[in-house]
Amino acid sequence: MQAMFHALDSAQDSASLESIRIDTIGKKGLLTERFAKLKSLPEEEKKQIAKTLNTLRKEFEGRLAIKQQELESKELESTLSAQGIDVSLFNLRSKRSIGHPINYTKDKIIEFFTRMGYELCEGPLVEDDFHNFSALNLPEYHPARDMQDTFYFHDDKLLRTHTSPVQIRTMLAQKPPIKMICPGETFRRDYDLTHSPMFHQVEGLVVDRAGVVSFAHLKYVLESFLHYMFGDVKVRFRSSFFPFTEPSAEVDISCVFCQSDGCRVCSHTGWLEVLGCGMVDDNVFRAVGYEEVSGYAFGMGVERLCMLSLGIGDLRSFFETDLRLLEQF
Ligand code: PHE
Repeated sequence: MQAMFHALDSAQDSASLESIRIDTIGKKGLLTERFAKLKSLPEEEKKQIAKTLNTLRKEFEGRLAIKQQELESKELESTLSAQGIDVSLFNLRSKRSIGHPINYTKDKIIEFFTRMGYELCEGPLVEDDFHNFSALNLPEYHPARDMQDTFYFHDDKLLRTHTSPVQIRTMLAQKPPIKMICPGETFRRDYDLTHSPMFHQVEGLVVDRAGVVSFAHLKYVLESFLHYMFGDVKVRFRSSFFPFTEPSAEVDISCVFCQSDGCRVCSHTGWLEVLGCGMVDDNVFRAVGYEEVSGYAFGMGVERLCMLSLGIGDLRSFFETDLRLLEQF
């Protein structure tokens, strides 16, 4: 028996441990056979030897269990280290992405303006006529309302067609000076290659005492922003019209695809329109009860800036939930 204990202690793997177990307490094992031989012994001797055998078996089983555990964890350790899994290692093969390009672009825009000291504001998606139109100098029957195809509910409610109603809400809720941006969803009854019924805009509004804020400030801020977004591009302000700003301008950058040589994206003009802006119209200030102030406002489409800055060709790919879009970035 002593030899068995010795073999057990020096076993190197679970296979040899198992054969020691079989040789000792298996069907034809040493101990099992000793137990079998008990039958032929006289009663007194039988008791005595059975007691010893039982003690031996208990000890063997106890030491076997400990050894088994020891060998198993050793073997697990060596398999693990052979497989070479280091959970603290960075997995370079995992798929990583900037997230959805729209959110990425929106966050990038927010980053610029909040660093410039603009406060982040929000407004409701379901608006009323006052905030979305009339307070913005778009009275009923104003022809400019045709520019925007609106989703109406049966009462006075509608889905906001731009983020400009947040200008009105902010001016009604605060006092000047105001310096805010508002990113968010907007809705129009449009659906084709370059329009989707839901899209994103970022609005900007700055209001201060009369004469403090000028078109020059607006121009500086937007030029800096467009260089931050697109790098070394040319920027031009083109005179335009919005009911809520006067004077108004649309802002173009030199085409990022053809370097102004002329291509399909810029319709061979060399320029890409990227945002609208202007000095807040006095009628808008009147609608919110502001006097002796001046201010500027601007609005931009996130989808458009995103497509131009990341080189995405098809607007619809934003809404198709195809993971391959995210994996490209
Ligand atoms: N609200 C305008 C639009 O949706 C953009 C704009 C905002 C223009 C602010 C001027 C000033 O087209």
